[in-house]
Amino acid sequence: MTAAAGPADSLGPSGWLREAAATRERTGMRRVLRPRPVDDDVLDLASNDYLGLARHPRVSAAAAEAALRWGAGSTGSRLVTGSTDLHTRLEAELAAFVGDEAALVFSSGYLANIGALTALVDTDTLVVSDALNHASVVDACRLGRATVSVTAHRDVHAVAAALAGRTTSRAVVVTDAVFSVDGDLAPVAELHSVARAHGALLVVDEAHSLGVIGEGGRGACLDAGIAAEPDVVRTLTLSKSLGSQGGAVVGSSEVVEHLVNAARSFIFDTALAPAAVAGASAALEVLRAEPERAAAVRTRARGIFDALCVAGMSARAPDGAVVSVLVGDPGRAADAAATLLAGGLCVGCFRPPSVPDGISRLRLTARADLTDADVARAVAAVRQAL
Ligand SMILES: Cc1ncc(COP(=O)(O)O)c(C=O)c1O
Repeated sequence: MTAAAGPADSLGPSGWLREAAATRERTGMRRVLRPRPVDDDVLDLASNDYLGLARHPRVSAAAAEAALRWGAGSTGSRLVTGSTDLHTRLEAELAAFVGDEAALVFSSGYLANIGALTALVDTDTLVVSDALNHASVVDACRLGRATVSVTAHRDVHAVAAALAGRTTSRAVVVTDAVFSVDGDLAPVAELHSVARAHGALLVVDEAHSLGVIGEGGRGACLDAGIAAEPDVVRTLTLSKSLGSQGGAVVGSSEVVEHLVNAARSFIFDTALAPAAVAGASAALEVLRAEPERAAAVRTRARGIFDALCVAGMSARAPDGAVVSVLVGDPGRAADAAATLLAGGLCVGCFRPPSVPDGISRLRLTARADLTDADVARAVAAVRQAL
């Protein structure tokens, strides 16, 4: 006997997938992958390669040498197959660069956030999280099974109120240092004061501030004077200004020892590939030797913002490398990004769920190696597309 067709059919895998696809199409939310040729003449204002190090000859050569010596992959979790000298050296270099005691490398920045937060909270912890924190922080909060209080963007008073009203034994305040879509800087020193006053830990995601903010790009926490505080833990990514792949958590040796034993995204994950580790080490070396790259990218971002304002567009003043241009409607933002790409300019397009409804935007990222002509061309094209 065959089952009669009924409501269950439309809830079956092909039914709901079709429905979801139709909704995405209708609401301008459909995302598509496009090919990326190795060399094209598209002007890239979409990547996070802020310092132009992803293809720096020393960085590429270091990655290639490590792959030849160690192989393409790292072969297992470090708790099983061990730590290469490349991994331990990078961890020491990263910790020293951002002014703290120890670091632990993860295979992505996403997994560094997941590992750090889930290992540092429990069901008796309140996590106070900025409304515009990155998706990896949001997911980490969910996975941690703590009580989560989402506070208004950059609102230190709201954080203090949430901490004051807590009923849990422990509390963690978590914030991006530079917000990935809006490009503004969190008030990390104020957040630290409030967190400390309430006995809470502060976790700062320095994904977009490493290599960009502070003297020589040593990050927002060092710049704010809270880098080596025992109640501050930082997460980093190696995939943006360091032009490689991977992530890290930076803090005291005690924190790192705890993560080795408790961070599931470290324990149950194959270690970061040697090529990525060596690439990040080489990039850090370039940045240490050429600290002016950090200021150069900030100046470029400011130049893009100024030119957008002169052209009459609504953009947010950048604190780092990210310049956010408000569009509003997701379909309009996607159309503008597609038009720009067809004309040879690649920009980011952020729509829900990456940003809240109604504030879709184009995201332009500065690079230290952009020229004045690049900026003029980009701004003219954006103006025309909007
Ligand atoms: C603020 C922030 N944190 C973490 C990540 C994740 O880093 P990764 O791309 O290395 O996984 C990103 C990436 O976009 C980010 O913007």
